[in-house]
Amino acid sequence: ARLVVAVDGPSGSGKSSVSREIARRLGAVYLDTGAMYRAVAWHCQHQGVLDDPEAVVAAVQDIDLVLSVDPDLERVVVGTEDITEAIREPGISAVVSVVATNRAVRELLVARQRAEIESHRRIVAEGRDITTVVAPDADARILLTASAEARTARRSAQMGGTVEAGALAEQVSGRDAKDSTVVDFMTPADGVGLVDSTELDLPATIEAMLAEVER
Ligand code: CDP
Repeated sequence: ARLVVAVDGPSGSGKSSVSREIARRLGAVYLDTGAMYRAVAWHCQHQGVLDDPEAVVAAVQDIDLVLSVDPDLERVVVGTEDITEAIREPGISAVVSVVATNRAVRELLVARQRAEIESHRRIVAEGRDITTVVAPDADARILLTASAEARTARRSAQMGGTVEAGALAEQVSGRDAKDSTVVDFMTPADGVGLVDSTELDLPATIEAMLAEVER
């Protein structure tokens, strides 16, 4: 049967790894909408237009972006350039809110995301506004949260422990603060299930998410 699962949550909640894995378990494709915002930020930075909101919108209209939705293949390509690794660099995390807080950019990306969701029979889509804006009528809608401490610790482990803890906490909460000015991804909307991963390891989080999908 057709299945759309919408997952939202803040940075470091475990959203990406958990969503990828539940997609595998459900025989679904996986849409990482954060990767789309990151790719757009990378593209605008390369075009040198990040400080010009209108040029940013034009760049997004023209972008030739190919994003893998295979949960076993992480690949992001803009034009002829494979930017799978590049979009995870701290330099992109630092500027992604410039594009994410641009309303016209969001409208363009939301439209693309809806089209992508429409084109697959089974899909897990993950981001900040999937349960509320992109796919409010999804079959399952879940908000994955975790305490600020747990989220910072995970982000730090993900980066190989190379960034000083205080600095990292500031980067993550700074990005969450900027993001929250556009979308509320900290409190579940009506009808959205809440999974708190603070005390859960990855397998337990996946089980809790699958239980929400079954509900
Ligand atoms: O690295 P992290 O998992 O925190 O974020 P991500 O999922 O890779 O998304 C990167 C950025 O894209 C976020 O900080 C938001 O600014 C933006 N984003 C958004 O605005 N809406 C979405 N649906 C997904 C991401």
